[in-house]
Amino acid sequence: MTKCFSNRARAGFRSFGVAALATAILTIGCLAPGTLGFAAKAQTASASDPWWKHAVVYEIYPRSFQDSNGDGVGDLNGIASRLDYLKSLGVDAIWISPMYPSPQVDFGYDISNYEAIDPKYGTLADMDRLVADAKKRNIRVVLDMVLNHTSDKHQWFIDAASSRTNPKHDWYVWNDGKPGDGPGSHEGRVPPNNWVSLFGGSAWEWVPAVHQFYYHEFYKQQPDLNWRNPAVEKEMFDSMRFWLDRGVAGFRLDAIPTLFEDPQLRDERELGGINAQGDPNLDDSLTNNLPEVHDVVRRMRAMVAKYPGDRVLIGETYLPNTAELDKWYGGTAHDELQLPMDMLIGFHGNRDKLDVASFRQHIEEVGTQIHGSQPLIVFDNHDNVRAIDRYGDGMHNDQINKVLATLLFTTRSTALMYYGEELGMTTTTPTRREDVKDPIGITGWPKEKGRDGERTPMQWDAGPQAGFSTNALTWLPIPPSHKTVNVAVESKDPNSELEWFNHLTALRRTNPALRGGGMTMLDTANPDVLSYLRSNGSGTAVVVAMNFTSEPRTISLDLTSAGITGATVKTLAADDASLNSITTLKNVTLPPYASWVAAVK
Ligand code: GLC
Repeated sequence: MTKCFSNRARAGFRSFGVAALATAILTIGCLAPGTLGFAAKAQTASASDPWWKHAVVYEIYPRSFQDSNGDGVGDLNGIASRLDYLKSLGVDAIWISPMYPSPQVDFGYDISNYEAIDPKYGTLADMDRLVADAKKRNIRVVLDMVLNHTSDKHQWFIDAASSRTNPKHDWYVWNDGKPGDGPGSHEGRVPPNNWVSLFGGSAWEWVPAVHQFYYHEFYKQQPDLNWRNPAVEKEMFDSMRFWLDRGVAGFRLDAIPTLFEDPQLRDERELGGINAQGDPNLDDSLTNNLPEVHDVVRRMRAMVAKYPGDRVLIGETYLPNTAELDKWYGGTAHDELQLPMDMLIGFHGNRDKLDVASFRQHIEEVGTQIHGSQPLIVFDNHDNVRAIDRYGDGMHNDQINKVLATLLFTTRSTALMYYGEELGMTTTTPTRREDVKDPIGITGWPKEKGRDGERTPMQWDAGPQAGFSTNALTWLPIPPSHKTVNVAVESKDPNSELEWFNHLTALRRTNPALRGGGMTMLDTANPDVLSYLRSNGSGTAVVVAMNFTSEPRTISLDLTSAGITGATVKTLAADDASLNSITTLKNVTLPPYASWVAAVK
C-alpha cells in the first residue's frame, strides 16, 4: 500500500498528466486480494441517520449557473431563482464553489476575504436569502472552504509580504532560498528545492521586500498558508464559524490534503517525464497528504460538531487507495470528515473506461473497508473533462451517461453531481488559445487547454444564451449543443437524460432498499455486466444491472447467496422499453449500455 502512495495522489485532476496515469494503474494493482464476495448486511435507513447519508449533493459553479443581473456571469440570486428546478431534481444540498471576494485569478479559489461575498455574485443579504429560500425547500447550502492558500491580494498576505517582522509574516510559508545564480535566482539566491506548482513552474516566488521566497502549490497568486502556525487555524476556524452561524450546512474542503509541507523542504523524487506544463513529474509525498493534516481535521470536526443539524465536512480528497481514504474518515474513530470524496471510482485521468471488474472491485472495497463510514461517489466536477466525454465511446454517450447515473444513485453511496451532468452536457473546450480563460490553459496550451470546457453556462433552454443570461457576452461561450441539450427540451422527453436522473433520484428517495439497504454483488465473474442486489433485510429488495458493452448481453441472476430463491421481478427503471416487461431474473437481455433497476418480489 505504501508503495502505491508514493506516486501523485490526485489522479483525476488532469494537470497531473503522466504521473496521474501511473497512480491510476498502481491503484488498481494495489487493491487488497480477497475483498470480493461480501454478503449483504441487513441494513436499513433509519430516521436518526444524518441527512447527508442519503443525500444528493449538487455542485454549482456560481459563474455558470444562472445570471440574474445581465452581466454575463452567474450569481447568487440566479441560483435562488432556480431552486424549484433543483427541488424537482431531488437535490438535498447544493455545494456552491467559492463566491467570496476574489481577484478571480483561479475563478474564486483565490480568496481575498473569507467573510463576505464577491460583488460579482451579490451581497451577504443575497446569501442569507438563498440559504433561507433553499431551507424552505429542504435544500441545504454547503460552501467551498479554501484553507490551503489565500489570494495574494488578501490583507494577510499583503501584510505578510511587507516585512519579515510583520506579525502576519509567519502565516505563510517563507524561505531564504539557497545561494545560486541560475534561472529563477534573485539577489544570488535560488528556491530551496525542486517543488513545482501544480499549475506550472517553480512552486516558489520571490518577494524583494522581504528577500525571501514564498511557497505556492497552485498559482503564484495563491500563497500557501502556514498551518504550523496556530494563529492560522484559529482565524480559519473563526471564518468557518462565521458561515455556520449564518446557517450553512457544512463545507467542501478544497485541496485539503495539501495543508502541510515537509518541514525540512527536501527535494521531491523525480518520476521521469514531464507534465503538460513542461515540468518534471514529481512524487508529491513531501507536499501532499502529510500526516499532520489529520490533527487539524479532527479539531475541525470537533468544532463543527458543536453545531446542531448534522453539519457536514466533505473533502476534495484525490487519494491513491481505499486505505488512505479511510484515514480521512478517521478510520475506526470516525472523527474526521463525514464525506471525503471517493475519486477512485470516477477519475482515472485519461484511462477512464467502463471496466466492470474494476468498478465491481472498488465499489465492494469502499463498501467494506472504510469501517462502516459512508462512501461518497462522484463522477464530475469543475476541474475535469466531463464524465460523459471521458467514459463515452462517441456513439453511445447518452446511454453511458445514464449508466454512470445509475451507479451514482443506486449504490450505497451518498451522491455528488455537477450542474449539467443531469442533461448530458458535454465539455466544450476552447479551440483557440486567445479564447481561454483558465490560466493553466494559457500556459499549458496546446497540451493543457484548461478547465473552461467543463465550466460553460448551464443549458436551460434553446433560446439566446441558453436561458443562462440576457447578455450576449457570457463569460464563457454558450455551447452550440444547447439547442437540444437543455432543461426545457429534456423535461418534455421521457427518454431524456434529465428524466433518467429525475426518476432515479425519486426512486432512491422512496425505495427503502435503495435508500438504506445493504449491497451484494451478483454474477461476479461477468466481465461485461455489473449487477448487484440492494436489500434492506425486511422484504424490500432491488436488483440493478448495467451492460458496459456496445453489444447486447444476456444475464441470469441468482439471488440464493442473498437468501432469495425463485424471485420474480418488476421493472422500476429501464432506459430501454424492452426491459419493462421482464418478470424473472433468467435470461434477461440487456441492450448495449442498458441500465435496468427492478424490484424483487
Ligand atoms: C481545487 C479546486 C480547483 C482549484 C484548486 C486550487 O482543486 O477544485 O478548481 O483550482 O483547488 O484552489
